[in-house]
Amino acid sequence: MHKLRKTEAWSTLENLAPLVKRHHMRDMFEKDPDRAKKYTLKVGGITLDYSKNRVTQEVLDTLLALAEQCNVKQKITNMFAGQQINTTEKRAVLHTALRNFSDKPVYVDGENVMADVHNTLKRVQTFTKKVHSGEHTGYTGKSINTIVSIGIGGSFLGPKIVTETLKPYWKKGIKTHFVANVDGCHIQDVLNSINVERTLFVMSSKSFSTQETLQNTLTAKAWFLAQGAQQSDIAKHFVAVSSNVAAALDFGMAKENVFPMADWVGGRYSLWSAIGLPISLAVGFKHFEALLKGAYEMDCHLQDAPFEQNLPVILAMLGVWYRNFMGAQSHALLPYYHYMRGFPAYVQQLDMESNGKSTTLDGRTVDYGTGPIIWGSEGTNGQHSFYQLIHQSNLPIPVDFMFPLKVHNQDETHHNMLASNCFGQAQALMQGKTFEECLDDISTSNLSEAEKLSLAAHKTMPGNHPSNMLLFDEVNPHTLGSLIALYEHKVLVQGCVWGLNSFDQWGVELGKVLGNDVFDMIEGEMSLDNIDASTAQLIKQFINKR
Ligand code: F6P
Repeated sequence: MHKLRKTEAWSTLENLAPLVKRHHMRDMFEKDPDRAKKYTLKVGGITLDYSKNRVTQEVLDTLLALAEQCNVKQKITNMFAGQQINTTEKRAVLHTALRNFSDKPVYVDGENVMADVHNTLKRVQTFTKKVHSGEHTGYTGKSINTIVSIGIGGSFLGPKIVTETLKPYWKKGIKTHFVANVDGCHIQDVLNSINVERTLFVMSSKSFSTQETLQNTLTAKAWFLAQGAQQSDIAKHFVAVSSNVAAALDFGMAKENVFPMADWVGGRYSLWSAIGLPISLAVGFKHFEALLKGAYEMDCHLQDAPFEQNLPVILAMLGVWYRNFMGAQSHALLPYYHYMRGFPAYVQQLDMESNGKSTTLDGRTVDYGTGPIIWGSEGTNGQHSFYQLIHQSNLPIPVDFMFPLKVHNQDETHHNMLASNCFGQAQALMQGKTFEECLDDISTSNLSEAEKLSLAAHKTMPGNHPSNMLLFDEVNPHTLGSLIALYEHKVLVQGCVWGLNSFDQWGVELGKVLGNDVFDMIEGEMSLDNIDASTAQLIKQFINKR
């Protein structure tokens, strides 16, 4: 048995789970009129109401005790202090240094990294200013009005969802595109829609070796030259962000156009680094800085707040409760704000690439559940598709609702409807509708008694489905920064409890390597002799039909 399961808190939670399963949240609310107030917390612009969870005070206390027994506090301190907690890659994990607005130094291998952090941030600021003021022009002297950001994974999702979410803050006259997929339709569609003289390509790749990003950049470069621009014009239109500066220079990037990032910034934690350049170009540096400050506020909260008032710790431990004791395998994110529609996809990479693992830091295989499947989409759209399953299937799926109390340029009626849907869904999940209530509804219909009983059974809503409600005073750069950091830290805390290295991603490697071999086979540079019959058949079919 793994040591996590031997902790006192774990055993207590195992004993509590069957007892809690017998209770309905409806009754918990009825018994305790203060429940909503008691289980609501506010940090900066974010309010978390976690009262609609299947927990008693004893469960919450024990979950926090479990966090203590797993040394979560010490592990958090170690991360912020620059210790090499990413043991398999022998790296510190310091995305928090990128938004360190204190005057405290941050050391990696005995060196304070803050000067480099500030230098790069300054470069992002200066470059953004030059583009916006028209000082940096395209090769024909025209100002830049289009940004095409090329990158994938963490070099794509963070910048994309932040830019999308901050639409009300977009710099007038600047349009931003994000291209990730190696599927040529995407880059081609974008290239077909832009003006070569006024476009800046930002190539983002921490490793500078990612196939999709390299190929899309080559395609963009070839297109650029085919439009009549010269090789010498490339420097005005192509910049790169990478921790592999040498590879970027080899690729042909001008030295002054390469924005560095440190190897202690993980890809899925990198939007705060120069990987955030497209954000700064889209909304202006002032707002990019506000985003960093919002994240910094959450960093301070994580480190300073006691566990019982600590938003990331509470969200994390509720997740542990459902995953390890209540049978949940997935967790849904439901933002009720159209501009946040990409947020579930962002957290999906953040969470699943971090905690989708089953080997612990001490090299053992887990005998308990780890990271859940993260999924979801914007409300109200989901209500008309997958909510059915959350309401009436027997799969336990905890959800996080998200709703901005104030929005920009929104018709009041629409916003009121959005609010009523969001709150109404959370209420329906919690309270459900009993068989008796359903039967009562159809009591005067002209159905037979047997039909009434059958229909009432179909209409019964069990309820007792847990949800968190995250309310935002407003979705501005600062709040968004805090929110993203909140989820980063939730993932960190869960990884600490489960004993994982949340900062490597070995599981993505094999597919890349085999994919490269398959590419060589398709191109006729490698024989198909030594591969399995199914893959060989697929390749042959592809070659024959191409
Ligand atoms: O394949 C997974 C991954 O390594 C992610 O972790 C990363 O965010 C993405 O690929 C892109 O990597 P890079 O920024 O090095 O191109």
